[in-house]
Amino acid sequence: MSSYALLVSPSANRVYAQSAASLTVAELGVLSETVLDGLLSEARPESVAGVEYVTFEGDLDERALGHVANVSTAFALFERTGDAAFRPVQLKRLDCLDDDLLTILKYQGKTNELFTQLLLNVTVLASASAPRMLTDRLRVLDPMCGRGTTLNQVLMYGWHASGLDLDEADFDAYAAFLPRWLQDKRLKHTAATSKLRRDGRTLGRRLDVELATSKEAWAAGDTITLSTALADTREAAEVFRAASFDAVVTDAPYGVQHGSRSGGGLHRSPLELLKEALPGWVRLLRPGGAVGVAVNLRTCPRDDALALLAGVGLEPRDTAAYRGFEHRVDRAIQRDIVLGVKPRPV
Ligand SMILES: C[S@@+](CC[C@H](N)C(=O)[O-])C[C@H]1O[C@@H](n2cnc3c(N)ncnc32)[C@H](O)[C@@H]1O
Repeated sequence: MSSYALLVSPSANRVYAQSAASLTVAELGVLSETVLDGLLSEARPESVAGVEYVTFEGDLDERALGHVANVSTAFALFERTGDAAFRPVQLKRLDCLDDDLLTILKYQGKTNELFTQLLLNVTVLASASAPRMLTDRLRVLDPMCGRGTTLNQVLMYGWHASGLDLDEADFDAYAAFLPRWLQDKRLKHTAATSKLRRDGRTLGRRLDVELATSKEAWAAGDTITLSTALADTREAAEVFRAASFDAVVTDAPYGVQHGSRSGGGLHRSPLELLKEALPGWVRLLRPGGAVGVAVNLRTCPRDDALALLAGVGLEPRDTAAYRGFEHRVDRAIQRDIVLGVKPRPV
């Protein structure tokens, strides 16, 4: 059996401070108990020559290494061949676009990019689509997408992204940003904004983008789509096609003031909003699809959120690995991830 040492990205240490290693351990734990069928031994933080790593054992083939490469905090991976020898292992990441897609936009209330990748990873890993995540273009919805951090991470993986938000400034900012970024990068694309109408009434506006990562891909029709709508998430099921998403991934309002941003017209508690929105989100998921929500435990206790997921027919994921994501953001926010999977018909 081979031993591995994963070097956690320095930016993860800056974002999560003391929690970077334990979040990495939890993400590897979810990876092991989903697509890798228990292949990894329990990961643990370990100091080697004064540097902190997360270490684990396992017989990793190319597919397994492909999954490890996309762990949100992975900076470098080494195979330990003896007491002192570290052999670097190439990390083949899914990333298919320049990473400034994720970092250019800076604004109050932005969800950290590394945390967004973590949330996306564990939600997709919990879903029935996980075995296809290294090879296929999955479809992911962020039903409270703000200025698009999740959407950009989904595009980065080469997957199809959809989003909803009811904050007009957020919608406009993203609708201005993405086409401009694609232009700057000289990537072939089309972009159009239009009115969002259902049954003769206007629900809001929408942005539809189609892009390709190269001229050859565009010519071959191998494109990636993005659609985002200015609408209330409780109407999500009227905006998108039923049973069309592999995963629903969102960073829910924290129920605290974020400077001037009060949560975009949110007048109820995060739990109430989740309760009202979840039935629509579940309708949009394929059977086997997963919902992953980042919550502030101070306004949205874990057990209450898991009970809401169970209440709409989702199967909560709550093993030790899935319980390992709680971490402190600031004095008002203790963040966690809650996850549920839509059962497949037997
Ligand atoms: C924590 S923020 C998400 C930030 C986002 N991940 C980003 O990085 O830009 C929560 C978002 O929920 C949105 N929101 C709150 N209530 C909503 C509702 N009823 N329908 C749609 N969006 C809503 C807010 O406008 C806000 O953008």
